[in-house]
Amino acid sequence: MKQKEAYEVAVVGATGAVGRTMLSILEERDFPVANLTCLASARSAGSTLSFRGGEITVQELTESSFNGIDIALFSAGGSISKQYGPIAVAAGCIVVDNSSAWRMDPQVPLVVPEINVSTIGDSPGIIANPNCSTIQMVMALKPIQDLYKIKRVVVSTYQSVSGSGQKAIEELTAQTRAVLDGNPANPEVYPHQIAFNCLPHIDVFLDNGYTKEEMKMVNETRKIMGDDSIEVSPTTVRVPVMVAHSESVNVECERELNLTEVRECLTAFPGVKVIDTPANNEYPLASSAAGKDEVQVGRLRIDLANPRVLNFWVVGDNLRKGAALNAVQIAEKLIGQ
Ligand code: A2P
Repeated sequence: MKQKEAYEVAVVGATGAVGRTMLSILEERDFPVANLTCLASARSAGSTLSFRGGEITVQELTESSFNGIDIALFSAGGSISKQYGPIAVAAGCIVVDNSSAWRMDPQVPLVVPEINVSTIGDSPGIIANPNCSTIQMVMALKPIQDLYKIKRVVVSTYQSVSGSGQKAIEELTAQTRAVLDGNPANPEVYPHQIAFNCLPHIDVFLDNGYTKEEMKMVNETRKIMGDDSIEVSPTTVRVPVMVAHSESVNVECERELNLTEVRECLTAFPGVKVIDTPANNEYPLASSAAGKDEVQVGRLRIDLANPRVLNFWVVGDNLRKGAALNAVQIAEKLIGQ
């Protein structure tokens, strides 16, 4: 895109869990923002959000919201992205979309900057930000793929409630109190109680018995890695954690793995931090990854039955690298940073 000293930036869904994180990350990384427009539903129009020491008044998202905007970061759900993404592009804006609306569109790049930045191109349009569980998994898979070529991945996720938005954070807090006080949990966001529970159900169930979240991990992994031969066998689970997703990953490669070499390639990969000293109880944790930019990898070990198979544990902040940080990194690439 045309380079400027500072850009007109809009955040769509600015009042949400990811939207608020986008504001903090734009500020932390000193993104060259000339003016920030915060857009949300009519419900929050008129409320304020803090940015760079000032207050920004939230505006209702309308068809004319994108006039004069250079870059719009969307995180207000798939239907808003489907409806307003093309309107923003028609107004001359580049859209970085955190929803699943455009991810598998063959015209739309699906980008994790450390992995496939070259797919961004420079034409104005929509660029999709991948699913949170997929981003942190492919960050760990990419260096392994480059060295050993991956055949199959079996993954189970332990996903935090912030991935379902602000209301789910409030639901876990309220339910935890209610259950401890001996009161009913009253689930609203989820079909069952999430406090003190694990729900093997994220997004809707499809005809093949998998959930939409699971199929995102299958299809998005192939698209980001540029390798349709990788088989992904996922089980996605919601757990009573506020922020940061954890995943147990089993990766089958084409050739025998060398654990020292695996550690080295992961350590060298930008955005990945290896935390793997089990003797000192050091391994990635949701509590240590929350608020951090890096994807943490540990519990690295070769499968007991197959020397071409690796097991590991990967944890990432789903609001940051899983969503807002990755989106802002894409925007940085767009402006040539
Ligand atoms: P609002 O706060 O006004 O409802 P989360 O994922 O944390 O639930 O956040 C969703 C974000 O998407 C919020 O900023 C929310 O705004 C925004 N949003 C939801 N529905 C609409 C809509 N119809 N138009 C614009 N923004 C919306």
